[in-house]
Amino acid sequence: MSSQLNSVIPVENTSPEIEKYEGIFHKDVIEGLNTFPKKLYSKYFYDPIGDRLFQDIMHMPEYYLTDCELEIFRTKTSELMDFITSDESDFDLIELGAGDALKSIHLLTYLSANNIPYTYMPIDISGNILAVLGDTLQREIPTLDIVPLEGEYFEMLDQAMKISQRRKVVLFLGGNIGNMNMDEAQLFCAEIRRKLNSGDIIIIGFDLKKNPQTVLSAYNDKTGITSAFNINLLNRINRELEGNFDTQYFQHYQSYDPISGACRSFLVSLTNQQVHIKGKSIFFKENELIDMEISQKYAPEEIQRMASLAGFQLLANIEDSKGWFVDSVWRVS
Ligand code: AVJ
Repeated sequence: MSSQLNSVIPVENTSPEIEKYEGIFHKDVIEGLNTFPKKLYSKYFYDPIGDRLFQDIMHMPEYYLTDCELEIFRTKTSELMDFITSDESDFDLIELGAGDALKSIHLLTYLSANNIPYTYMPIDISGNILAVLGDTLQREIPTLDIVPLEGEYFEMLDQAMKISQRRKVVLFLGGNIGNMNMDEAQLFCAEIRRKLNSGDIIIIGFDLKKNPQTVLSAYNDKTGITSAFNINLLNRINRELEGNFDTQYFQHYQSYDPISGACRSFLVSLTNQQVHIKGKSIFFKENELIDMEISQKYAPEEIQRMASLAGFQLLANIEDSKGWFVDSVWRVS
């Protein structure tokens, strides 16, 4: 998900000297804060404190996404299984960004209880999370055949294709596809399609367009947890990159455009201020924005279009009872 937005214009890349960065996080932060508009990547929200804040977000009454998808995996498990097993051959079940497998565990349990032969391959960037997940699954489903893959989605998907010749079923849940804009998501799906073979399946969780107030409230909570989730990235830069953001001079601002479906979060500089990151100074004008995150919402027609353009056949949109979220089942056509 490291693809850059096309609309971002680099403005301080005129210097002929080659920049020295200590890591990709450092590079992304410095480059992002030297573009206009300023930009930080939401994938960096998830340090240990960010992980905890996201747990808090999932427990907020306004944040409906997790509950909706959990309901789908709890109550429509047999429907999901039917799409996955209609082919009847053995398969690898690959989960992109498996995390704690909160939702998929219901499917895993159901498949195992029905004696379906498969290997579970959770992919995650965090080896720690994979170790914890492995322990949990060992306990919950002792018969489960599990091959954890630690690394980036695409690289680990290549790995999975090499490890075995079985057909693949890919899970990309949680509405994580929403953290890409529609163009990026389209490219992402096409890239996955390129890696898969005819008959392979992918199930993607999409958050749907709905009453705009419902969407906005999920990201604009009165308790300030989402604000803290955004501000934590500035603190993370302070902790890890010798930054000196004074977070009291940054304010969270959330917007939702119900036409495009883009729900966006920004941090607004409340004053003219200079910030240092590893000795490099960055100037913020009063009311200047940092573009922090997009959470893209979809209409069913847009999901259908994305599937077709990426080279998949849409088999089903499996919805929760409110009709707020879908797990969309696609087969390589
Ligand atoms: C983890 C990407 C699904 O966009 O809804 C929650 C992250 N950001 N509140 C989302 C998030 C603010 C979340 N995803």
